[in-house]
Amino acid sequence: MFTACCTFLLIIIGAMVTSKDAGLSVPDWPTSFGRFPVTYRYFEVPLVGGVLYEHGHRMIAQLIGIFTIILAVWTQKVDRRPWMRALGWTALGVVIAQGILGGITVLFYLPPAISTAHATLAQIFFCILVSIALFTNRDWTEGSPEQLPQTTSPRLTTLSVLTVLSVFVQLVLGAAFRHNGLKLIPHIISACVVTTMILWTTLTALRRYRGIPQLRKAALLLHSLLWIQLTLGLGAYLTLVVWDKNAPRPLTSMVIVTVAHVAVGALVLATSVVFAIQARRHLAVSSEVPVASTQKAVHA
Ligand code: HEM
Ligand code: HEM
Repeated sequence: MFTACCTFLLIIIGAMVTSKDAGLSVPDWPTSFGRFPVTYRYFEVPLVGGVLYEHGHRMIAQLIGIFTIILAVWTQKVDRRPWMRALGWTALGVVIAQGILGGITVLFYLPPAISTAHATLAQIFFCILVSIALFTNRDWTEGSPEQLPQTTSPRLTTLSVLTVLSVFVQLVLGAAFRHNGLKLIPHIISACVVTTMILWTTLTALRRYRGIPQLRKAALLLHSLLWIQLTLGLGAYLTLVVWDKNAPRPLTSMVIVTVAHVAVGALVLATSVVFAIQARRHLAVSSEVPVASTQKAVHA
């Protein structure tokens, strides 16, 4: 949970690098102004102007890299589930790839495809860490729950996976616009799809499976985050596209709203992933109806 929370902060700082237009404030990589990471001189880079965001972002990213190494080794040592060990090493592989993408985007002057990939992989990395936090939580490790049947179609397990995919596409389109790779229209059209999917999924969960607290809480959170994110999206559109035409860039209001939109976007994706995992855990995928589960559904 600690590493996941730190990564969320890093996503906010990364978003500030982009919104403040500070991506090229430090022109070299893996060094910063010729100073190598993990040496004391690296920490002496003067944090002024855009360097505050860009070099600060690199330093915190390296700290997260160290936390992820500890997490992977620790999981390997204490966790008996082979897939959890694999997940720990996957997190490490992803954070290394993320650092390399960050470096490449600097060396090649922020090409849209690489910057978009960097923005996207950041959110994937965050989701992996949130999943690790979920799988190591006491609620998860203490016994496996009885699964409820899914008698109606489409199943909530299917809907929840489609919701994750729609949010993922949405964030790739948002990142592509943010990094000058695409127009805004695909992101706005896709917002309608995401809104429909989240409403469908969360309202289905709240209507049919209210009795499962893990699903109810995730559904309520996802539902609330959707409205916040739509409001921030509108705010980003107004401050970035409508109001900012002749103002000196970047406007403070634009920076605040766009950074918040990236951050809440990460929360929407991570919550949709948690929801899908919980749905898979608590609901039977086959349509067979276990007797005990039917009784539990009736009581719920
Ligand atoms: C744990 C590792 C890292 C994470 C999670 C991360 C995350 C992020 C995020 C979320 C953004 C904002 C994207 C957006 O707003 O659309 C960003 C931007 C950026 N990051 Fe990272 N980052 C990491 C490591 C690095 C490293 C090691 C570098 C090395 C130079 C780097 C360089 C950059 C640059 C230059 C930008 C601005 C890109 C642009 O404006 O086009 N990042 N990062
Ligand atoms: C639930 C719906 C939405 C989600 C999940 C979402 C998610 C995102 C994400 C994650 C980004 C940044 C990607 C990155 O660089 O890391 C983004 C960018 C953006 N989104 Fe959305 N978005 C949603 C709805 C909307 C709506 C309805 C609008 C406009 C009316 C909008 C306008 C924008 C704009 C203008 C940007 C670019 C900001 C910039 O360039 O600084 N979004 N969106």
